[in-house]
Amino acid sequence: MANKIVKNAAKPSLERLEVLKNRDILSASELNKEELMIILETAAYYERVLIEKRKVYDMDNKIMASIFFEPSTRTRLSFETAMHRLGGSVITVAESEQIQISSTSKGESIADSIKVIDGYADIIVVRSPVKGAADEAAKVAEKPVINAGDGFGQHPTQALLDMYTILKEKKNLEGLTIGLLGDLKYGRTVHSLVDFFSLFNCNLVFISPDELKMPKDITQNLQKKGIDVKESDNLQDIVDILDVLYVTRIQRERFEDRDEYERVKNAYVVDESIIDNLKKETIILHPLPRVNEIAVGVDKYSGAAYFRQAKNGVPTRMAILSLAT
Ligand code: CP
Repeated sequence: MANKIVKNAAKPSLERLEVLKNRDILSASELNKEELMIILETAAYYERVLIEKRKVYDMDNKIMASIFFEPSTRTRLSFETAMHRLGGSVITVAESEQIQISSTSKGESIADSIKVIDGYADIIVVRSPVKGAADEAAKVAEKPVINAGDGFGQHPTQALLDMYTILKEKKNLEGLTIGLLGDLKYGRTVHSLVDFFSLFNCNLVFISPDELKMPKDITQNLQKKGIDVKESDNLQDIVDILDVLYVTRIQRERFEDRDEYERVKNAYVVDESIIDNLKKETIILHPLPRVNEIAVGVDKYSGAAYFRQAKNGVPTRMAILSLAT
């Protein structure tokens, strides 16, 4: 049965559908509360369309360039699925250090590549291992650029689908107590998410090893906004106060020092002993992929929402694509 928020969803008014027209989405801090709510409202509408198996042509005759210089399963495939579901078309570059198919491997700069792709597509979705790469792309592109993850910088569209998931699961976003666990230094999703949580006066608890704490500038910025932020290295101490436990992977690919990675890689494992101490209604999220930070046995817990979360990527990205073009 469809979630109530989805069941009651209607297409937003024309005025609301215009608010993000031709806008880049590079970081969460660029979106205000109303703009965020428009995206979530539009995502609910598109989820309803998907459930009712209705055909829509909101991106008819439009092309999305899907430019990924880093591996991805969820972000790339859900953006591409979203574009197909909207009746549009997709052109793709998907490469990494190991697989090189575009002319960047011949030495072409990202800026030159993006200038060219800008002439082919109506919207550009870009992922890069380099922090700030999407901002650089946006400087040279006339078409909207969507940041699909830039190094250890930002991942705003993941954070949008996370907010959509929390709204559906908790029916409310205001004043929740949220634990962010794991690699808060390199985890770009949490860097975006905390900006959204600050719009709803959420209470935040950062749980990480000392080496992987949330960057100071982000924590201080939240505190300046009056957000209650606590830091801990012990999950068991705070697990019973959480409405949402957001787990992240230790980002092996971002470590310069492999020994440091080896020291922290098993810092936290959410297993049945943690579940026993959660409040009954607590939900567990994870942007995925997971390695071993959530035991597979936890998947059967009704609050384990991470696969539902990944599925929400399609309607959320349908909303982002249609609103931005
Ligand atoms: N959550 C996320 O960004 O997953 P992918 O790396 O598979 O896109």
